[in-house]
Amino acid sequence: MSSVSVFGAQWGDEGKGKIIDGLARGADVIVRYQGGANAGHTVIVSGAKYVLHLIPSGILHPGKVNVIGNGLAVDPLKFIEEVEGLRARGVKVDGTNLRLSSAAHVIFEHHKRIDLASERWRGVGRIGTTGRGIGPCYADKAARTGLRVADLLEPERCRRRLAAALAEKNALLEQVHGEQPLSLEEQLARYMHLGEVLRPFVGDTGAEVRDAYRRGKHVLFEGAQGALLDIDHGSYPYVTSSNTGSDGIAAGAGFPSRWLDRVVGIAKAYCTRVGEGPFPSEDHGADGVKIREAGNEYGATTGRPRRCGWFDVLAMRYSLELNGADGWIMTNLDVLDSFDEIKVATAYEVGGQMHREWPGAHVDLADVKVHMEGARGWKTDITAVRRYEDLPALTRKYVEWVEKLVGVPIVMLSVGPDRDQVIPRDGLKRALAHA
Ligand code: IMP
Repeated sequence: MSSVSVFGAQWGDEGKGKIIDGLARGADVIVRYQGGANAGHTVIVSGAKYVLHLIPSGILHPGKVNVIGNGLAVDPLKFIEEVEGLRARGVKVDGTNLRLSSAAHVIFEHHKRIDLASERWRGVGRIGTTGRGIGPCYADKAARTGLRVADLLEPERCRRRLAAALAEKNALLEQVHGEQPLSLEEQLARYMHLGEVLRPFVGDTGAEVRDAYRRGKHVLFEGAQGALLDIDHGSYPYVTSSNTGSDGIAAGAGFPSRWLDRVVGIAKAYCTRVGEGPFPSEDHGADGVKIREAGNEYGATTGRPRRCGWFDVLAMRYSLELNGADGWIMTNLDVLDSFDEIKVATAYEVGGQMHREWPGAHVDLADVKVHMEGARGWKTDITAVRRYEDLPALTRKYVEWVEKLVGVPIVMLSVGPDRDQVIPRDGLKRALAHA
């Protein structure tokens, strides 16, 4: 048996969907443990594109159990939309292959409205959220005023808790944000109906996942967003509202940390970020634009153009160490195919001093000056390469240079969006246990 955590090691959008989809072949249970429909995991199967927001990327493989853990903020409308979208394309989705935690928090209409209104209120200090209600829902979870999936299934409890929540949220919407209040009866009717649609999927998923692991099943944990967007360890306050790395698994899936066998990070051969916040290795010039176009760097959830820049060794070392990664997977290497020179951030200058390690929360990342080093580009199309030794010598040189700087083995490379455009490296089996 084995359990593997695969998480985004940068600012999200590292290509996790495709990698998890590939690794799901060898897994029995695929588990999401945090975030919500703010994520956008793109998987391409034989040229057909699927974008998943809530449902784990393992859903595209028959016979696998996919779990939405208690740590998620679930918008029932998005859940149903995604289930129906998959069914319309012939993918089997029912309560046997998709499980939803009864303890996951529910995103209501008021969360989405407050998310958008708070962003307007923040003005230039806005976070650039996806507007999906994530922050307000997690805020209610921490304030103990939220409703969980199980509450939608109990009419009396649902009425009592939603009435209490809406009394406060309507005051906020009307008096602070100048918006129309929401009708309790309308909201109750809508969400209790949605609850009935969810019912066949709902269960105690923590117990189900632990039981599967004990019975020798392979469990794969799918992180959403990226380690640098982690609420505790990321670039606060420009982060999402959950623990995005392997640190989120115990709380968000009910799976003990001590049972985690392997941890693997995913990072692009360069860096991107959507939304506001510091991004030390961002390229504001022609190279940034070129990366965006070559990598089609537009948000899968919001369609926003992503900010683009170069691979950041300090950020990567930090996020791999923080999450205890045994190895990492470098994605989108082919996006660099046409560059004469490929840059890598190898040090930060802070207050006149050079740092080779992530500077920590006391330093405002917006104030760091980045020191870049360059490598010669290979100027060859590598999208058809499937064996490491068949890559151009300059590509291997770049990969090995970055690997050495980061100090953690690269166990696989991805050279295109399709499921099979991957290049395994030595150590893949060791790092993933069941790959
Ligand atoms: P929220 O998660 O919608 O509250 O957004 C908070 C920050 O996280 C914003 O900067 C978003 O752009 C970013 N974010 C949230 N989800 C993703 C994702 O899946 N990929 C990349 N960035 C994300």
